[in-house]
Amino acid sequence: MITPRLQMILNNVSSGSVADIGTDHAYVPIELAKRGIRVIATDINRGPLSAAERNVRKNGVTVQLLSGSGLSPLQKGDAEEIIIAGMGGELIEKIISCDIEKAYSARLLLQPMSCQAELRKFLLSNGFVIEKEDLAVEGHKVYNLIIAKSGVSSAPAAEIDLHLPPSLYNHPLFPMLLAKKEREFTKQFNGLSRSKNKDFDELKRLNMLLSDIQKLKERNGL
Ligand SMILES: C[S@@+](CC[C@H](N)C(=O)[O-])C[C@H]1O[C@@H](n2cnc3c(N)ncnc32)[C@H](O)[C@@H]1O
Repeated sequence: MITPRLQMILNNVSSGSVADIGTDHAYVPIELAKRGIRVIATDINRGPLSAAERNVRKNGVTVQLLSGSGLSPLQKGDAEEIIIAGMGGELIEKIISCDIEKAYSARLLLQPMSCQAELRKFLLSNGFVIEKEDLAVEGHKVYNLIIAKSGVSSAPAAEIDLHLPPSLYNHPLFPMLLAKKEREFTKQFNGLSRSKNKDFDELKRLNMLLSDIQKLKERNGL
């Protein structure tokens, strides 16, 4: 089933050859194959690969299914675009680090379920530029898509920009992301304020982020 999160990924594919790493059900590769795109779908686990195989067969499309960890099943140049979606940001970072030359050779469509700011920081300090960001909503949850390619970033991003990238300010779902980040930092700040062994540097950092969020709310009339 193509959910809004998966639709966001599909909307941002712009080439004729794609690899989907950690495909599980293979919903995205199947839709891409229907559009005539050459697709490779990989997974590290046997169960998801069998499910992918069943779904591919049911839909009568051609998807090359490969088993293995991260980018290892791919040859350099196999795909113009690589999707890594539905995993934690730390795992996505690990997958890219393990095979960085292959990652440099493609446009990366990354959909981290956590640690988005850390993933942006990793990309910007490891030879990638962030070309575009997108958001999708399912119920009360907002999902990020980070599109990156090899390149040199001009300046290190301010911490708030790693959490709330300026390129998303005009996105219709930006207010939802802003509210989510405000809740997250407020919860952390309140928890730390109540603790016996206060980390004052961390409290100062969170206070700064919350003050940046207030400025962004004013700027966006929220
Ligand atoms: C939660 S599913 C996400 C499925 C799909 N990409 C999506 O966005 O809906 C994560 C999938 O990644 C696979 N996976 C986890 N670690 C992996 C790795 N190192 N290399 C390849 N696949 C991996 C898991 O087996 C699982 O099928």
